[in-house]
Amino acid sequence: MSPSSFNGLRVLVRVDYNVSLKEGRNGLVVADDERIRLSLPTLQFLLEAGARVILLSHLGRPKKEFDPQFSLLPIAQKLNELAFGLIGYKKKVLFSPRTIGDLAKNRAKELEKGQMLLLENLRFYSGEEENKLIFTKRLAKLGNFYINDAFSASHRGHASIVGLPSLLPSAAGLTLEKEVDSLTRLTNNPDRPLVLVVGGIKEDKLEFASQMLDWADQILLGGLLPEKLAAYPEMLKNKKVFPGRLAANRQDLDEKTIADFQEKIVRAKTVVLAGPVGNINEDHYQGTRVLFEAAIASGGFVVAGGGDTQAALTRLGLVDSMDYIASGGGAMLDFLAKRTLPGIEALK
Ligand code: 3PG
Repeated sequence: MSPSSFNGLRVLVRVDYNVSLKEGRNGLVVADDERIRLSLPTLQFLLEAGARVILLSHLGRPKKEFDPQFSLLPIAQKLNELAFGLIGYKKKVLFSPRTIGDLAKNRAKELEKGQMLLLENLRFYSGEEENKLIFTKRLAKLGNFYINDAFSASHRGHASIVGLPSLLPSAAGLTLEKEVDSLTRLTNNPDRPLVLVVGGIKEDKLEFASQMLDWADQILLGGLLPEKLAAYPEMLKNKKVFPGRLAANRQDLDEKTIADFQEKIVRAKTVVLAGPVGNINEDHYQGTRVLFEAAIASGGFVVAGGGDTQAALTRLGLVDSMDYIASGGGAMLDFLAKRTLPGIEALK
């Protein structure tokens, strides 16, 4: 669509502002703003075209009801700051403490051309994750066009990802398009051996990794994933899969596993890093540092993905050594396994 067709339009933009927060002087503040920065190209395009931009996101995994620790309010403040400094945004980012209903509608009506409104966390409502039509319809009422710029959440069959594009005219955002292009290039004839390193605690990564048994040459598992392997018999008995062992304090891989994995990774020609292998929230970086550095030392093509992976790379000063960083770990794995995602299919 040309920029002029967005002039005055109320555009619902699904972004992924599922970022880490930390305690600040007056409450929670954004600890890692990378995902907010990633949304800026699409926002700049829409704002300069004169659109009224209504932003939708989830944050964390609240229990489908309001919970202040998962409020998006600190993100509205950070977005204001970044948009002002980086894309010349001079208006205020409005915030609606309700995602749907009269308050959200009124805030959306207040929006001027070229202004942004951030709605409260989608996951405070059961309709989001359950993709309930009644919830999707109430969201859809707020705008007349839908853009998905949340690659890292596009593996979820949620209302804001797959429901909205069935009710509104829709398109992919600039960052989502770029991410799909880059990962598609990786799926076409990668150099081998291709080693996939999967860590963290989210069990669904095992589901995605199990779909990559044909594509990957070796799959190295860290974090708490080896302990969850019993539910994936096809992984358990596959010779390509190497479950790591935890050290006695259960915070990182043990030394032998780290050394074994390091040896495999330095011989790779393509490495995909999906999650830290130790508990980086408690500062256990040893295994993650050795394995990430081994990937760089391999001289192969290195792709990393996911919020925690990004945080670890930043903390270890390795961001610039990656060939490509995808915004989401689970979404990246799901995309590499299937070459598409539910959120991308829904736009077709
Ligand atoms: C992510 O951080 O991977 C995405 O925001 C998806 O979050 P989820 O795993 O809670 O759905």
